[in-house]
Amino acid sequence: MRIGIIGTGHMGRALGLRWARIGHQVLFGSRDLDKAKAVAEGGSGLTRAGDFDAAAAFGDAILYTVRGVYPSALLREPAALSGKILIDCNNRDLAMIAVQPNFVSTQLNRSRHWQSSSLPIYRVRA
Ligand SMILES: NC(=O)c1ccc[n+]([C@@H]2O[C@H](COP(=O)([O-])OP(=O)(O)OC[C@H]3O[C@@H](n4cnc5c(N)ncnc54)[C@H](OP(=O)(O)O)[C@@H]3O)[C@@H](O)[C@H]2O)c1
Repeated sequence: MRIGIIGTGHMGRALGLRWARIGHQVLFGSRDLDKAKAVAEGGSGLTRAGDFDAAAAFGDAILYTVRGVYPSALLREPAALSGKILIDCNNRDLAMIAVQPNFVSTQLNRSRHWQSSSLPIYRVRA
């Protein structure tokens, strides 16, 4: 599977490198390309580096680890997530929804706000 990692901190690094180890293709996306490259170099030939949009476009599944910032604010093309599985590491979302009500979607989240969005993203809480 092709997996895009948005945010190359603890969770992004740990999960992305393990997924690559078992044979998945992984693109690490960061706001700092050098950081993404350093993480990708720690993996196998199946790992590569890019920015957040590259990770969103690359993955069939996306791991989202940036806390407090929704994809609609982070990505130039949030629609790239459409139809994909979005694994959200963040533990809290209701407070974030309150401050950023225009976030795109999910079909699995309990919140009415998330369910009412227009992009068909399948969001999985990790
Ligand atoms: N569900 C679980 O079991 C579980 C377990 C652990 C953590 N979590 C949650 O998962 C989330 C990520 O945890 P983590 O330990 O991976 O955090 P982390 O190490 O701080 O990594 C967060 C990543 O997001 C990037 N980032 C942060 N703010 C940003 C912004 N404003 N714009 C662009 N990029 C930004 C950081 O980039 P830079 O490196 O450039 O700063 C970093 O790569 C947190 O919400 C945490 O509470 C959940």
